[in-house]
Amino acid sequence: MSGWLIKGASLLGAEPVDVLIRDGHIAEIGDRLDGGSASVVDADGLVMLPGLVDVHTHLREPGREDAETVASGSAAAALGGFTAVCAMANTDPVADTAGVVEQVWSLGRDAGYVDVQPIGAVTVGLAGEQLAELGAMATSAAKVRMFSDDGHCVSDSRLMRRALEYVKAFDGVIAQHAEDPKLTVGAQMHEGVVSAKLGLAGWPAVAEEAIIARDALLAGHVGSRLHVCHVSTAGSVEILRWAKRNNWRVTAEVCPHHLLLTDELAATYDPVYKVNPPLRTAADVEALRRGLAEGVIDVVATDHAPHALEDKECEWGAARPGMMGLQTALSIVVETMVRSGALDWDGVAERMSRKPARIAGLSDHGLDPAPGVVANVTLIDPEARWTVDGAKLAGPSRNTPYAGMTLPGMVRATFLRGEPTVLDGMLTEGLKR
Ligand code: DOR
Ligand code: ZN
Repeated sequence: MSGWLIKGASLLGAEPVDVLIRDGHIAEIGDRLDGGSASVVDADGLVMLPGLVDVHTHLREPGREDAETVASGSAAAALGGFTAVCAMANTDPVADTAGVVEQVWSLGRDAGYVDVQPIGAVTVGLAGEQLAELGAMATSAAKVRMFSDDGHCVSDSRLMRRALEYVKAFDGVIAQHAEDPKLTVGAQMHEGVVSAKLGLAGWPAVAEEAIIARDALLAGHVGSRLHVCHVSTAGSVEILRWAKRNNWRVTAEVCPHHLLLTDELAATYDPVYKVNPPLRTAADVEALRRGLAEGVIDVVATDHAPHALEDKECEWGAARPGMMGLQTALSIVVETMVRSGALDWDGVAERMSRKPARIAGLSDHGLDPAPGVVANVTLIDPEARWTVDGAKLAGPSRNTPYAGMTLPGMVRATFLRGEPTVLDGMLTEGLKR
């Protein structure tokens, strides 16, 4: 078999064209191409985007393989239209050494569904006290460029400054989980009217906003790159707007769940809605959508956080925070941003592929399909709707907040370096290397 001829795909939402893939690259784009012996994919009515890139994924391996493995999370990613994911460092052991990041990187390569780019921890053991060996991780086979203590905030200002200074030498980036820990002691949900009614300890917006403001100032002072994880409040959007006006090197992500769900859901006491940062108010959701449309928030990232059943099917207070997100991210973006006209397909490509690839330093990803470009692409049916069933999602975990919801946008195929990882909406085990 030599290559793939994708017939009649709408490139980034434009007029349908044929796309010929050979030797891992886009060979030709045009009308009525002759693919010779290439396998044909009928893409009538499908939108082609560069493969999606997630800068914030929890793959749980090593340590919590009962919740997710690099292989199962990679499969979920491919099914969700992704060709690359950045794996967060809060594993067990923590990814704070060259050894662990190389392990995650090579597990990703062995699984072969998406490129798995490990994120290194900023501090040893995520303890927030001592810088991890950032240089050793950067020069390892995993070539780490993004560092994060996600799950924890690098709250010590001096340490945050040092980390920003350190990574500047190799154009690295510090991805901050912005949460002043002193302001969120015991917090269970967003601090506001609903938390007051339910009598649950609140996580105030200012705990996020104060850290983003401080870190933006530090990034500006040092001249280094800051990325803000899972922005969740209207105030954070305004702080980012200010940071960008100053031309500081600050980027930010929003998660699908913060674009759709609100803190009212905590009233169900169903821990599937427990996440950190917490679901906020409808006004915050509105501001996040606007911030994403305007580019004040740069990218969508999933914060895919699978958890074992016993960590979610328990009382709210004991449950771990986090939601699965890889297989539903695109649909939530279609639901919240595309259908309203806030984003077109080019805008989706910018926020879910090009920009995340640039932030993470993944040069083979986030490239618009064009002759000579590496064939990392995804094919989406924008009209199709599907009903989320937790039991049918890839991997051992079930904690999706979208179970039972019917959502628009289905991923029909994903190609990684010219070979399908997903075809007809299904993983291509047989075709795998
Ligand atoms: O909800 C969350 N879950 N937020 C985080 O910051 C960490 C993540 C996890 O690792 O489960
Ligand atoms: Zn986080």
